[in-house]
Parts: sequence; structure tokens; C-alpha cells
Amino acid sequence: MAVTESGEASDRPVARTDSGPGKSSLIKWALFATLGSFLFGYDTGVVSGAMLYIRDQFHLSSFMQGAVVSVLLLSAAATAPFAGRFADRHGRRFTLIVVAVIFTVGLLVAALAPNVWFLLLARLILGAGVGAASAIVPVYLSEMAPTKMRGRVVSMHQLMVTIGLLTSYLVDLAFSGSENWRAMFGAGLVVSVLMIVGMRRSPETPAWLLQNERPDQARAVLKEIYPAGQVDQVMAAYGAGGKGAGRRMSWREVLTSPAVRPALIVGVGLAALQQFSGINTIMYYAPTIMEKTGLNASNALVYSIVIGVINLVMTLVALRLTDSAGRRPLLIVSAALMMLATIPLGLAFITLTGSASSLTALASTGAYIMAFAVGLGPVFWLLNSEIYPPQARAQAASIATMVNWLSNFIVSQSFLPLSESIGQGATFWLFGAVCALTLLFIIRRVPETKNRTLAQISDSLHHTGHNPA
Ligand code: BGC
Repeated sequence: MAVTESGEASDRPVARTDSGPGKSSLIKWALFATLGSFLFGYDTGVVSGAMLYIRDQFHLSSFMQGAVVSVLLLSAAATAPFAGRFADRHGRRFTLIVVAVIFTVGLLVAALAPNVWFLLLARLILGAGVGAASAIVPVYLSEMAPTKMRGRVVSMHQLMVTIGLLTSYLVDLAFSGSENWRAMFGAGLVVSVLMIVGMRRSPETPAWLLQNERPDQARAVLKEIYPAGQVDQVMAAYGAGGKGAGRRMSWREVLTSPAVRPALIVGVGLAALQQFSGINTIMYYAPTIMEKTGLNASNALVYSIVIGVINLVMTLVALRLTDSAGRRPLLIVSAALMMLATIPLGLAFITLTGSASSLTALASTGAYIMAFAVGLGPVFWLLNSEIYPPQARAQAASIATMVNWLSNFIVSQSFLPLSESIGQGATFWLFGAVCALTLLFIIRRVPETKNRTLAQISDSLHHTGHNPA
């Protein structure tokens, strides 16, 4: 049987079926862990509706409004790299409990903030939660899931991000009548407290337990995932290399080791391209964009909700396809369609006018979100949890996560100034050019990881630099 250093079992002789005894436990643990992903979506989304009322209550300048929104992105970027190290030292499960506590504190401070400085502090704390959750939730899922289900299980991360985003828009809408922005933040507490309770009851990943020489505990977890008769076999497969894999790499090694570099290039490259292709200009500025085409922006929340629903539904489609169609086809179709969608989107601002402009902008924004949600959205996070060797996995994933948040910050800060100087249409064509680059990058560098164990994936990247086959 093939598996060794990854601390992950090959599932060929140890076949796991979707209907086996472990599926319900696995899904339960994955649901608890992905409450962190939900809060990633919720915390990034809730501020758009809340800002309408915060602005008036605290008399915020547009600079301060921008600061309240973007401090979360910077804090997420700053926290992510430490999350990996922490998760290696203290375990993935404990890290996620700490993440849930951070979310709880951040949401409480936001809901009770007496002035804008406390609100900034709250956004800083929430950013730490978002950064750590986005780095570690996918790693937890990836180390828990049997190979054949890994795509679906890890894509639950992105699905919960989209559910969190959509929920935040609906909660914003529900409290907009009473203008109660404190309740908008406070509502997230239900989820963060549930995450503390749920993660306390969930196990550590077998991979981490074995790397840290705790075979009895690893066996107990495996017993809940695999049919009884197969646990010994799985343990034997882990045993071959699990122990040796325990040595954690230093920062320098992660950044310079030839064993990690090809995977890190894929992870960091996709992290940056996912953001520079412009997704969050649509997620964060949809109402402003639509207003420029002549549509009435008073129904801003309705646009956000429509976008949120499209995003969620297409992520569900991706979830069904990652393990069957594979990661590369989804990414290729996604980047190509995103690129195509920016052509009419740009035209809507440059040559079209009146209802033709509004309709074209609406349709192409919808197509662009669909294309993102079916590939680049979920598959980046999936690959980022499965391509690195075990000794570097959490740290390398968190470096790419940092790049993702930093790129998000740069794009969201420069979108409005850029649109003002070169025009909205040209800005979208620029994003289209990035999508074309993304397509090339995927074709040349991104490996197919479907049906391969974590060990096989990192081996192939190690030996060949890249292995798109
Ligand atoms: C991205 C986020 C984005 C979200 C939208 C995620 O994959 O990392 O930046 O807001 O998708 O669904």
C-alpha cells in the first residue's frame, strides 16, 4: 500500500466508500470546522450593510470607512503565516478552537463598540480569526478525508464561505429596518460559540497525531472514519512513514527547500491570481458598479443577495465535480470563462449605453461569478491544502493564504482609484488579462490531484517540478 510520509492512507486496498460507517462522523467534524469558513464569509460580508448605519452614528469620513473594511484584510494577511506554525505545534483541532474564541471576542467587541476605535480593534481581531481559519480549516479537512472524498470534503470550506457571505447579506437586510448594526455583528456569535462547542468534541487529524507520535489516538480517530476491518491496514500504511514525517521544517526550509518549492509556486501563484482576477471588486462593489451602468443603487442589498445565491449554487456544482471531473478541468474552464465574461463587462462601460449597458453588465457579472464559483474559488483552497509535503503543509498553506489576503487588500484598495483613472471598462479588461495569465499558469504548472494520496501529490511535485497530467 502506498502511503507513507503524508500521514495519509492510500485508499486502494483500504477502500472507503461514501456510505461507509465513517461518513456521518466525518461530515459532522467537517461541519464544525467549516463554521470557521462560514465566519470568514460572514465577517467579510456583514460590514457592507452595517457600514450604512455605522457611518452615520460615528460620523465616519470615507477614509475611516475604508479603514474599518480593510483592516480586516491586513490583519488576516498578518496572522495567516503564524497560524501554520501554531497548528503544527499545538495541533489543527486546538488551533480551530482558538480561532473560534478569537471570532467570539471580535464579534463581541464589534457589537458593543462604543466608538470607531473599538470597531477598528474588533475588525483587527476578526481579521486574525479569518486569516487563521482560511489557512487551517482546509488543512484540517484535507488531513481528515479519505482520498476519494477529499475534493468534496475540502470544498465544504468554500461552500461555507459562500453561505457565510449570503447569510451576512440576509442578516444585514433583516436588521436594516431597525438600523441595528450591532445586531448584525452580534448574530455571528451564535456560530462562533457553536464552533467552540463543536471543535471541542471533534478529534485531531490522524496525520498530525501520527507525526507527533500518538498512534493510539490516531487509531481511535481512524476507527470512526474507516470500517473496523480496515483500520489496522490503514495504520500500517501510516506507520511506514508517519514517524519520520514528524520533523517540522523551519521557515527558511519551507521557503527554500527544493522539496516544497514547486508546490509553493503553485500555491502562492494561485493565491495571488485568485485575487488579481478581480473577484472581490464584484463581491465588495457590485452596487457601485451597477450604478455606473445607470441602474438604481438603492436596492444595493438585493444585488448582493442575487450574487450571493449565484455564488453558493455554483459552488455546490463544483463540490459535486472536483472528485469526478478533477481539479484541473474545473480550473481551466473557470479561468477561461471568467476571461470571456470580462469582455462584455468592459464593453458595457465603454461602448454601450442605457438598458443595453445595464443588461450586459448584469449578465456578464453573473457569468463571471458563476465561472469563479465553479473553479478558481473552491479549487484554490482545495489545492492549497493538498499539494505540500506533510512537514511543510500547514506552514506553506498559510504562506499562500497570506499572499491571498494581501492581494485581496491591494486589489480592493486600488479598484476605485484605478477605475477613476483608466475607466471602469478598461479596469475589467485588465482583470480579463489576469484571467488569461491565470489560464496559462494553470495549464503549465498546476497538477491534477484527483484520486491521488497526499503523498503521491507531493512526490510528483517534488520530482518533476510540476506535473500537469
Ligand atoms: C476568496 C474570497 C472571496 C470568496 C467569494 C474565496 O475563495 O478567497 O476572497 O470573497 O471566495 O466567494
